[in-house]
Amino acid sequence: MIELSLMDVKDLPAAMPLGFVALEGGSILGGAGIASGLLKEIAARAEADGFRGQRDETAFLSIFWEGLERRALLAGAGPKAQFGGESLRRACGALANAAKRRFEVFAFDPAGRIREAAEGMMLASYSFNEYKKAEGMRLKGANLLVRRGSERRTAEKALERARLSCEAVFLARDLGNRAPSDKPPRALAKFAKSLEGSGLSVEVLGPKEMSRLGMGALLGVSRGSAQPGAFVHLSYRGPGAKRKIGLLGKGITFDSGGLSLKPPAGMETMKRDMAGAAAVLAVLKVLPRLKPKLEVHGFCAFSYNMPGPDALKPGDVVRAMNGRTIEVLNTDAEGRLVLADALSYAVREKMDALIDVATLTGAAVTALGPQVGAAMGTDRALMRGLLEASRRAGEILCEFPLVADYKEWLKSPVADLCNIGRVRGEGGTVIGGLFLEEFAGGLPWVHLDISGPSWSSSGGPLAAQGATGAIVRTLIEFLCP
Ligand code: BES
Ligand code: MN
Ligand code: ZN
Repeated sequence: MIELSLMDVKDLPAAMPLGFVALEGGSILGGAGIASGLLKEIAARAEADGFRGQRDETAFLSIFWEGLERRALLAGAGPKAQFGGESLRRACGALANAAKRRFEVFAFDPAGRIREAAEGMMLASYSFNEYKKAEGMRLKGANLLVRRGSERRTAEKALERARLSCEAVFLARDLGNRAPSDKPPRALAKFAKSLEGSGLSVEVLGPKEMSRLGMGALLGVSRGSAQPGAFVHLSYRGPGAKRKIGLLGKGITFDSGGLSLKPPAGMETMKRDMAGAAAVLAVLKVLPRLKPKLEVHGFCAFSYNMPGPDALKPGDVVRAMNGRTIEVLNTDAEGRLVLADALSYAVREKMDALIDVATLTGAAVTALGPQVGAAMGTDRALMRGLLEASRRAGEILCEFPLVADYKEWLKSPVADLCNIGRVRGEGGTVIGGLFLEEFAGGLPWVHLDISGPSWSSSGGPLAAQGATGAIVRTLIEFLCP
């Protein structure tokens, strides 16, 4: 992660390169602390070079000012009418990207919006280095310019907050990008256990404990793999907490589809089928340092979905922990099976609200594309809170309806319900939500299908190609507004 520090404008070394964000039309943001003559000169040169301040546009320039060479980078934030936290984040990401090969450090005036500026720079600087060294990055850090001493304390807080949320995002990205054979359920459970201490307690259930509890759905999915599944319960108890929030994550450490095997094209991206659980782990990891006045419980259901000799077969019936039986018509609809047990477990732990996060359906990607998650739920206030948090975090969620009449489609002739729509294949994302609702025990509940945003196939301004750490920032924003 690049190192960000606060710097008083009056301590700015004359030779340090400067970074700026400009709106379309060329007006530079912030800048009040930098000599206005110098600013004017930079703006004039950028304009002469054809820089227009459009989104993702960058310019590098070098001018002479008071006998010294001053180097500057500019990034466009697009039209003023649409300017907000996310356009600043994105422009700061572009700035950090453009600085990567040029400078070791530069100074930037965030115009008071430290958190978004810092997040943008840090998110853009991520690279996954578990199997090869990072390449082509000279940039070590940036100095965020602040003016008065009184500004400094709030700036410090905003910066720390940005650091924590990016630390969580990076953890979720690292786990999602890790090769599938290098993250068996037991290893992820062991990792979760290592987070224990200082405000977090962690309980790990292996196959024995899971059978004792009757987690037949999660156990069923893991039967196709030589590696056993694992269930993790993390708990954070904030000071004076009155509300118990349960975060549940789908943790399929690789989804081959099982006997209902997936086609080979793109199957490697199914190493990120544990993105939901990774987000839950990542959020729980930083909560003790964010200290919200809540009790937050994380429930992660880890398993491979493989077609091994003892794999679930289409037509098999499994019994979830809450006693409901499920006819497995398609072994590739495994996420809802492991979540059925996770939800049942969380209900027994008496939560006040449940939020599950899962790469549940390809249909969500078809409907919404790679940048938008689908949200479904039974509680208006919880839904509104999550949608608002996602807006502030710069992530996009779209509410889908839980169409009651479609529940019919999940009826099974031999069990309480089927794991896919039996008669019709449409509305796959909603069907996934309706299935999960059956296990939420009537509690206020929201399901977030992050199939699209969990992965970036080409990389974007704020995320490298691969796992994105989607929903982590939204959850943090929701829990710690
Ligand atoms: N993990 C997949 C969903 C998925 C697909 C996530 C593409 C991200 C990108 C899930 O387990 C799955 O396979 N769902 C099936 C459900 C179907 C069998 C009802 C799907 O979407 O095809
Ligand atoms: Mn699947
Ligand atoms: Zn899956």
